[in-house]
Amino acid sequence: MRRILSAKLLNHFSLLGKTSPSQHCLPAWKQNTFALNFCRKSTTDGTTMDLSNMRKKYKGDAECFEESQLVSFDPIKQFGNWFDEATKCPEIGEANAMCLATANRDGRPSARMVLLKGYSNEGFRFFSNYESRKGTELESNPNACLVFYWEPLNRQIRIEGSVERIPFQSSCDYFHSRPKSSQIGAVVSRQSTPVPNRDYLRQKNAELEEKYKDKEVPMPDYWGGYLVKPHLIEFWQGQTNRLHDRIVFTRMKEGEKLGEFQHEGEAGWVYQRLAP
Ligand SMILES: Cc1cc2nc3c(=O)[nH]c(=O)nc-3n(C[C@H](O)[C@H](O)[C@H](O)COP(=O)(O)O)c2cc1C
Repeated sequence: MRRILSAKLLNHFSLLGKTSPSQHCLPAWKQNTFALNFCRKSTTDGTTMDLSNMRKKYKGDAECFEESQLVSFDPIKQFGNWFDEATKCPEIGEANAMCLATANRDGRPSARMVLLKGYSNEGFRFFSNYESRKGTELESNPNACLVFYWEPLNRQIRIEGSVERIPFQSSCDYFHSRPKSSQIGAVVSRQSTPVPNRDYLRQKNAELEEKYKDKEVPMPDYWGGYLVKPHLIEFWQGQTNRLHDRIVFTRMKEGEKLGEFQHEGEAGWVYQRLAP
């Protein structure tokens, strides 16, 4: 709704060529939206957009993220702290939505959103179709990157690691904990394969709903969970003056010495600050 309204308002005010008088009464985040919209310029043919002025205010220096503010020198615990804050932030609809980047065996990357379904010292868990594009890529190149961006908090977390499938039984347990319609949806969809049209999926869905009306839906063998086992976790917090905070944790390798700006963390991790 907010998007539709702002699009309508943008139209209206760009016709008038001036800002709304009521804009000054808006909270800071809404003013930012206005600022963004009014900085957009388009060419007459509408095919090229100049977005060079699209810029949002982040945090001021007083709210910077210093090493002393880490709740733990174990990045999994630090992740938990930021994740909890994101889940409590009313402006964040799906705090567990994350971008998952994979690459094929030639190193060509692809990315898409998935939902984080759990995390622990072992890693970060999500579920998908093992035969999907991501599934195929992970099969030949079991490395991935996850990115969370919680815009209202001006925070980003980047996680890189190796990926493995979780045990079959754990996938089954999760599969059957989902609403029946989602279970059927997973069976209907051979994710990432071409289908003739939407009706094809509708019909297949209806057939399976009938078939499993009084029965448990068996988990398809091409569906299950993955665990991203991190070797790098970076915490980023945005600053208006672009001196963003970046604290990156990496796993200490056997026999490795601390680098000049590296500090010992906990649970086998070391950390350092990176230039933004
Ligand atoms: C917010 C959001 C959450 C999603 N969560 C999942 C998920 O948990 N698992 C999944 O397989 N796809 C999920 N999707 C769909 C994927 O983005 C993607 O379309 C699908 O997995 C196929 O990707 P692929 O062809 O690259 O394998 C989600 C999409 C969005 C926008």
